[in-house]
Amino acid sequence: MAEFTVRGGKKLEGEIEVMGAKNSALKIMPASLLFSTPIEVKNIPSIEDVFRMMDLLEGIGSDVTKISNSRFKIDSRGVEGKDLKKGIAERFRGSIVLAGPLLARTKKVFFPHPGGCVIGKRPIDIFLEGWKKMGAAISESKDGYEVSTKLLHGAEITFRNISVTATETLMMTAVLAHGKTILRNAAMEPEIPSLAEFLNRSGAKIKGAGTPIIEIDGTGGKLLRAKGSFEIIPDRIEAGDFLILGAALGKKIKVKNCEPAHLTAVISSLEHAGAEVKIEKNSVSISKPKILTSCDIKTREYPGFVTDVQAPFTVLMTQAKGESMIFETVFDGRLNYADELSRMGAKITTLDPHRVLVHGPSPLHGREIESPDLRAGLAFVIAALIAKGESTIKNVYQIDRGYEKIEERLQNLGADIKRI
Ligand code: EPU
Repeated sequence: MAEFTVRGGKKLEGEIEVMGAKNSALKIMPASLLFSTPIEVKNIPSIEDVFRMMDLLEGIGSDVTKISNSRFKIDSRGVEGKDLKKGIAERFRGSIVLAGPLLARTKKVFFPHPGGCVIGKRPIDIFLEGWKKMGAAISESKDGYEVSTKLLHGAEITFRNISVTATETLMMTAVLAHGKTILRNAAMEPEIPSLAEFLNRSGAKIKGAGTPIIEIDGTGGKLLRAKGSFEIIPDRIEAGDFLILGAALGKKIKVKNCEPAHLTAVISSLEHAGAEVKIEKNSVSISKPKILTSCDIKTREYPGFVTDVQAPFTVLMTQAKGESMIFETVFDGRLNYADELSRMGAKITTLDPHRVLVHGPSPLHGREIESPDLRAGLAFVIAALIAKGESTIKNVYQIDRGYEKIEERLQNLGADIKRI
C-alpha cells in the first residue's frame, strides 16, 4: 500500500492546474447508458473513482476506450447486464448514480448497498422513493436492492433533503421516462447544470437545472444521440484545496484551469481570513497573508461553503489567529479527522458531532497519519506540508480516489512530498 512522506515547512510557489471534476465525470460516464450512440468525453481525471466507474460500466457491457490522456469514448449500446459488480459498488458511493440510467435503459437493476467515504450515514431513501414514484418496484434483500419497472412515467418528486447524487440520478432516470417529471428542492451544484447541458444538447428536455426546481420532459423511451464531444468542468473542490494551500504556504500560487464563479464561498472565507486573492478568467492567485485571522464556516449545499473543502479549511484555521468555529451541516461524520490533527499539535475542541472550535495559531509537527477518506486525506497532506519535520501519510489510495498524481503537482510548487 503506497504512502506519502512529507517534509513540511517549505514555502510554495508557482502554478498548479486543476483537473476535470471527479463528481462531474462520475455522472457524465453513466449518462452514456441513455444514448443510442457512443459518447466522447474530454477532461476526465485519471483517478481511482473514475477507474472504478469504468470497471462498473464494463461489467454491464459498456465499452470504454481511451482516445488520449483524458479523452474517452464510452459506448453503452451493448449494455445488457443489470447487476452492478458487488465488490466495487459496495465500496464506492458513486455507483448508485449508474442505477438510474441503467433502470431507464434496461428496466431492471440490482445493486448492493453503495459504500463510499466514511463520512457518516449515507442513506439512499431519496433515490428509492423517487424511483417508486416513477413507477418502479423495489425489493430489498440482504444482498442489496432490485429495482424494476414495466414503464417509467413522469412524477412530481419533492426531496425531503437536498441530495446531489439523488438529483442527478433521478434527473437521468426521468430523461427517458414517459411524461413530465418535476424535481423540487433539487441540489444546485454546478455539476448538475453541466450534466443537463450535456443531455439537452443530445435530445433531452431538461429545464431549471442549477435551480431548486427541475422539469424534465421524458422522451418516452427514445434514446439520446451524442453531438460532438463533451468537456468535464474543472474540479471546484480541488481548486478550493489549492487556494487553501496557497493561503497556508504560498509565496504566490496560481490555481489554473478553474472556474472562479464556482469558488465564491471558499474565496470569500479566505478573504475574510486575510488572504489576498486575484481572480482572472480561468485562474485564481493567492499568497499567504502577513496575518491570517480566524474565520467561522458553516458548510452548505451550493452555493454555500462546500463540505468537501471543510477539512482543509480547518487545517488552515489551525494557523490563524483566534478561534474559528467549523460547523459541518451536510454530513454526520465529517469532523472525525480532528483528533488526528490534534495529535499533530492543533488545538481543537469538539463541541458536538457537527461543530469544532479551532484555537489558533498553533505549530504543527510531523507524524504518521492514516488517511480516513479522500478529502480528510488531502487535508492531512496540507497539514503535513505546514508541519515541522517529517510526516508519513498512510492509505494513500483514499487520496488517489479523487486527486490525480497529487504528489507530482505539489512537487512542481516546491513541496517535499514523495510516494513510497
Ligand atoms: N441523504 C439522505 N438520503 C438520500 C441521499 C442523501 O438522507 O437518499 C443525505 C445524506 O446522508 C447527507 C445529505 O443528504 O446527509 C447530502 O448528501 P448528498 O446526497 O448530497 O451527497 P452525495 O450525493 O452522496 C455528493 C458528492 C460528495 C459531496 C456531496 C455534497 C458525488 C459522487 N459525491 O455526495 O462528494 O460531498 O455530494 O456536496 O457526487 C467527495 O467527492 O469526496 C464526496 C464525498
